[in-house]
Amino acid sequence: TLEKAQLTDRIKALLKAQDAVLVAHYYTDADLQALAEETGGCVSDSLEMARFGAASSARTLVVCGVRFMGETAKILNPEKRILMPDLRATCSLDEGCPADAFGAFCDAHPDHTVVVYANTSAEVKARSDWVVTSSIALPIVAYLAEQGHKVLWAPDKHLGHYVQRMTGADMLLWDGACVVHEEFKSFALERVRKLHPEAAVLVHPESPDDVVDQADVVGSTTQLIKAVVEMPNREFIVATDAGIFWKMHQLAPGKTLIPAPTAGEGATCESCAHCPWMAMNALQNLEQVLLKGDQEILIDPALGRRALVPIRRMLDFAH
Ligand code: 13P
Ligand code: SF4
Repeated sequence: TLEKAQLTDRIKALLKAQDAVLVAHYYTDADLQALAEETGGCVSDSLEMARFGAASSARTLVVCGVRFMGETAKILNPEKRILMPDLRATCSLDEGCPADAFGAFCDAHPDHTVVVYANTSAEVKARSDWVVTSSIALPIVAYLAEQGHKVLWAPDKHLGHYVQRMTGADMLLWDGACVVHEEFKSFALERVRKLHPEAAVLVHPESPDDVVDQADVVGSTTQLIKAVVEMPNREFIVATDAGIFWKMHQLAPGKTLIPAPTAGEGATCESCAHCPWMAMNALQNLEQVLLKGDQEILIDPALGRRALVPIRRMLDFAH
């Protein structure tokens, strides 16, 4: 619409005037992903978002995603201004792992190497030895297991259990889950697979074990998109947030994408899986934050320096 075109034009002008770039996650609104791409920003998984921000020369990063992504950007780039359309965009994994209880868990197991998922607060990261994202959790934990480390893992028990099964590592798991991926139902997925026997099944590892067990590919958002592009199948059943379909359609327009069911007797989902906090990012509040400069991520510098150590370890490991 004309209104939307005018809004995006105003945002583009604001980005330019403020030397700002957009760093967007695949689960955000398609309009935001398209705008990020068009204006020299990035659209990616959480690991690549962190990398892009650290490599960018822009003075301001506007992180369209959830709060831990903005915090990681600030920890990596304390000199930059980090804005988000809405700072209330949290994550059930982050919420389910308060720093004090987590600290007590670590204190109770001092012989364990502490590995935390990126979906955590700066305080929790600061207490860890390693930060990982879904795209790099397996090789890092495999490496630690090889070195003889016992691993204390938080907060996602499903991802943790998947990593444990794949690597054979000795792991203690925190009891957290993603409210979005936890909704995928294995019995309903089995029905959908019977209806589409040729379809490849793509699953984000935050999903429950019995859903992961049915996957042809388990991986981060970037890895699942890559699978749609590279696998010869014409049909894919996709168990992750529906925001990912925009990029999948863009890169593989001829392929059929079927959302994995979150409920119902075998029907594909009527209301697809979609993270309520990712959905708090929109063109309207993006314009507002560029105008007002509120919704800025601020992190105590000493805390940021502690949290940087395990994040840097992850980024260095990958190279
Ligand atoms: P990715 O790192 O795979 O993009 O996952 C982030 C996330 O929050 C998934 O729910
Ligand atoms: Fe957190 Fe799940 Fe939302 Fe990802 S989809 S941000 S893990 S609540």
